[in-house]
Amino acid sequence: MLLEAKGIIKTFGSFRAVDEADLTLQEHELIGLIGPNGAGKSTFFNCLAGDALPDGGSIRFRDREITRMAPHDRARLGLARTFQVPIVFDGMTVRENVMVGAFLRRPHRHAAAAKADEVLAFTGLAEQADQPVTTLGTPGRKRLEIARALASEPTVLLLDEALAGLTSAEVETAIALVRRIHESGITLIVVEHIMEVIHRLTQRVIVFQQGRVLAEGSPADVTADPRVIEAYLGRRAGRHRP
Ligand SMILES: Nc1ncnc2c1ncn2[C@@H]1O[C@H](COP(=O)(O)OP(=O)(O)O)[C@@H](O)[C@H]1O
Ligand SMILES: [Mg+2]
Repeated sequence: MLLEAKGIIKTFGSFRAVDEADLTLQEHELIGLIGPNGAGKSTFFNCLAGDALPDGGSIRFRDREITRMAPHDRARLGLARTFQVPIVFDGMTVRENVMVGAFLRRPHRHAAAAKADEVLAFTGLAEQADQPVTTLGTPGRKRLEIARALASEPTVLLLDEALAGLTSAEVETAIALVRRIHESGITLIVVEHIMEVIHRLTQRVIVFQQGRVLAEGSPADVTADPRVIEAYLGRRAGRHRP
């Protein structure tokens, strides 16, 4: 097992955003994490990556207990993530933004810049390398977020809505990029709203609802599961009932 989370709880006040959620991830998998807005997907990612400390449960990565380990120490072990809202360091170029990730394993500036350029070429951002990062639009920022994570040379990459806000043509480019990342040997968990993307990219899906794992299985199985349909459509269907 590459990554294993058991009974993860994360509370905000008296509210359980993540409520005893489990996850297992085998090396070289590419799995989906789906669920309605507010289901706790990003909070769960925060717990896995160390950006939030869970109030219960345990996380193991490559047979090491990492439940309370700092994010940069998890990154050093090979666990990287992107944020749903891309992080952009203003006043720096696109390359320098990616170097922030590269510095994790390459403390020398030249080596970090070389790694950044390699990743910028891989993610299709090479031509923007010297531009101020603020010139990037949404698709560029989404790719930059992925590039910065890749520059840390992860074993596992957690993508939080990396395709959100893209046009259908941009989504195609992004799907191709995720596939190439997977083919390069990186294990992925993708949070994604577009079911077609989940169907095309993943072999296994975990469905969250109200902080809990509601269902798990192949994309075809979970989307046919009445509980999953209810979780997505229940309230809206209710409103439209006469
Ligand atoms: N820092 C926080 N403080 C209070 N509530 C939060 C915080 N972060 C998330 N939440 C709440 O936790 C729930 C899960 O949020 P989130 O993990 O962002 O869901 P998802 O990513 O599945 O849309 C939501 O109800 C959200 O409002
Ligand atoms: Mg989210």
